[in-house]
Amino acid sequence: MTAFKTLDDIGDVTGKRVLVRVDLNVPMIDGAVSDATRIQAAMPTIRELSDKGAIVLLLAHFGRPKGAKNPTQSLSLVMGGVEDVLGHSVMFIPEAVGEGAKAGVAVLAAGDVAVLENTRFYPGEEANDPAFADALAEIGDLYVNDAFSAAHRAHGSTEGIAHRLPAYAGRAMEAELNALDAALGNPAHPVAAVVGGAKVSSKIDVLRNLVGKVDHLIIGGGMANTFLAARGVDVGKSLCEHDLVDTANAIFDAADTAGCTIHLPYDVVVAREFAPNPPTRTVNVHEVAADEMILDVGPAAVEALADVLKNCRTLVWNGPLGAFETPPFDAATVALAKTAAALTREGSLVSVAGGGDTVAALNHAGVAADFTFVSTAGGAFLEWMEGKPLPGVDALRL
Ligand code: 3PG
Repeated sequence: MTAFKTLDDIGDVTGKRVLVRVDLNVPMIDGAVSDATRIQAAMPTIRELSDKGAIVLLLAHFGRPKGAKNPTQSLSLVMGGVEDVLGHSVMFIPEAVGEGAKAGVAVLAAGDVAVLENTRFYPGEEANDPAFADALAEIGDLYVNDAFSAAHRAHGSTEGIAHRLPAYAGRAMEAELNALDAALGNPAHPVAAVVGGAKVSSKIDVLRNLVGKVDHLIIGGGMANTFLAARGVDVGKSLCEHDLVDTANAIFDAADTAGCTIHLPYDVVVAREFAPNPPTRTVNVHEVAADEMILDVGPAAVEALADVLKNCRTLVWNGPLGAFETPPFDAATVALAKTAAALTREGSLVSVAGGGDTVAALNHAGVAADFTFVSTAGGAFLEWMEGKPLPGVDALRL
């Protein structure tokens, strides 16, 4: 894979101001951080730099304030969560650039950690304005990017600054890039991808990219219905983007050319209403009644998909197979995730998952910890699956 510098290359950081881009865009409930996964992900880098005597300056965004100061999107609101995870008090500097930021940084000592204000309070951040990146670079000596989940944005704190200071990948970024390389960059074959979710329209580019890279493409969720319809199946009242049938056919053709097998469910769980625990039927896809909806992959198809995974060395997973938040339509996702987890534990499968609902689905199945790697990224993971360049990663490359 393309090389990038890591903390192993950073040298003596004692007393140096290290700007660390992290992702503190965390969910909040009643003023408290409700899921600290992203804060935890940044901890190895923060602790390592702090232990080595750096002055650790955390740069991050929070929400989408669109270049204006907005107290409801101040990073001061997540300080409690940062301190809880780090286990000691952390200073908050209410500016990210300029004299206020410099004054805040000036009082810090070697080993201290501080959070600077939301970089998106400044219009230069999202515009990747060179003057803003210059201003950021003025408050630090070195730059570390540990926010893969923001790396699809070419912003001042993710891209511009990396060209102005010696730039390194943090430990979370390093782990993410290594895992993604093992999943699609340079994977052991056969490779399977599971792509689920409601709509084909949101994942057309993902599917197009994957058919050229993987040996088995397992399509689930509502989007499978569009592919079934393209194969002439009457999907009844199921969610289906009939206007994308031609797109689905083009993806079938591309898969044929590339030697990728597309797997669609051949039995499905249907119901007349989408509600928790309604009356359901498990039927062959050709037996869906006009007033029924497909809400999950059936057990026979799940067993066949498990056999596919047993013959694969690598799995990349994005999106649930069924309407997993509503029981019993979580069954296929849970069953196949458990198979993937077991194969990973046995050492026969490298399993990498990420994006949107995926982490929630794997947590629901109780197997997230068994996967080789679970990405905390949403949009960045999808753009990586689409094969798009990630500006925040490219700026770190040697
Ligand atoms: C995320 O929540 O996926 C990242 O923090 C990126 O946020 P954004 O989509 O607002 O750029």
